[in-house]
Amino acid sequence: MKTVLITGCSSGYGLETARHFHEQGWNVIATMRRPRADLLPTSDRARVVALDVTKPESIARAIEESGPIDVLVNNAGIGLVGAVEATPMSTVREIFETNTLGVIAMTQAVLPQFRARRSGVVVNVTSSVTLVPMPLAAVYTASKMAIEGFTASLAFELAAFGLKAKLVEPGYCPNTRLAQNGADRLQGLIPEAYEAFAAPIFEAFATPKETTTEADVAAQIWQAATGDTDRLRHPAGADAVALAESASGFFG
Ligand SMILES: NC(=O)c1ccc[n+]([C@@H]2O[C@H](COP(=O)([O-])OP(=O)(O)OC[C@H]3O[C@@H](n4cnc5c(N)ncnc54)[C@H](OP(=O)(O)O)[C@@H]3O)[C@@H](O)[C@H]2O)c1
Repeated sequence: MKTVLITGCSSGYGLETARHFHEQGWNVIATMRRPRADLLPTSDRARVVALDVTKPESIARAIEESGPIDVLVNNAGIGLVGAVEATPMSTVREIFETNTLGVIAMTQAVLPQFRARRSGVVVNVTSSVTLVPMPLAAVYTASKMAIEGFTASLAFELAAFGLKAKLVEPGYCPNTRLAQNGADRLQGLIPEAYEAFAAPIFEAFATPKETTTEADVAAQIWQAATGDTDRLRHPAGADAVALAESASGFFG
């Protein structure tokens, strides 16, 4: 029986992905900063393990506790919307610590066992902001773009050992806790000089033509982890698929 370790399972895409792999008969190690076993089905195939991807000792402990795994899903992430000049560098670093360095650190942590067994898949969850530039998302986009390049390059060195690296690029889902989790970080990031510019953008964000569901993302993560194609990128959700197919950009 195969085992998946997923980061950021307390809500949203990560939680739905944990449930999906469990339904497919896999062993699931659902990791969370603050473990809550009640979110997952009661089952000897579902374990909740504490993990903060920004803390090396937490990563080492979680990997040790988890035992052998076949698939790593780097899903944990934090969002940010705001003007670059108003974003404190401490906030920029916070975003990169989780969205970028956390992904790289988790990947490093599983590769020795994957390489030894010559089997394993790393699935990195980025965002549709990497498909087409979006306004007021420069820092978040930078943190996710870094993982796009990281994963595309990593795929070559992993292929040398029969391993795979994949990208899942979800669109916008209003139901996850991403916006709520980042609400404090957003205070003051739209200064007065940017208000007129930002207003129609926030209006467009609030009334999207198409959105993504947690199930769309879980299905694409499943496909990326278990499919037998060499496809690197997996846009997830109707809006992400439409953006992937368009070259026109947000204002185009
Ligand atoms: N929702 C969207 O519109 C959207 C669109 C594109 C991409 N994404 C990406 O999809 C992924 C999942 O987001 P979501 O929308 O499902 O949001 P979410 O409901 O807020 O879930 C994010 C998860 O990441 C966890 N997390 C945050 N910082 C962490 C850390 N340092 N260590 C470990 N876990 C941490 C959160 O745990 P806590 O409960 O401990 O905070 C939470 O479980 C993220 O990478 C996000 O960037 C989301």
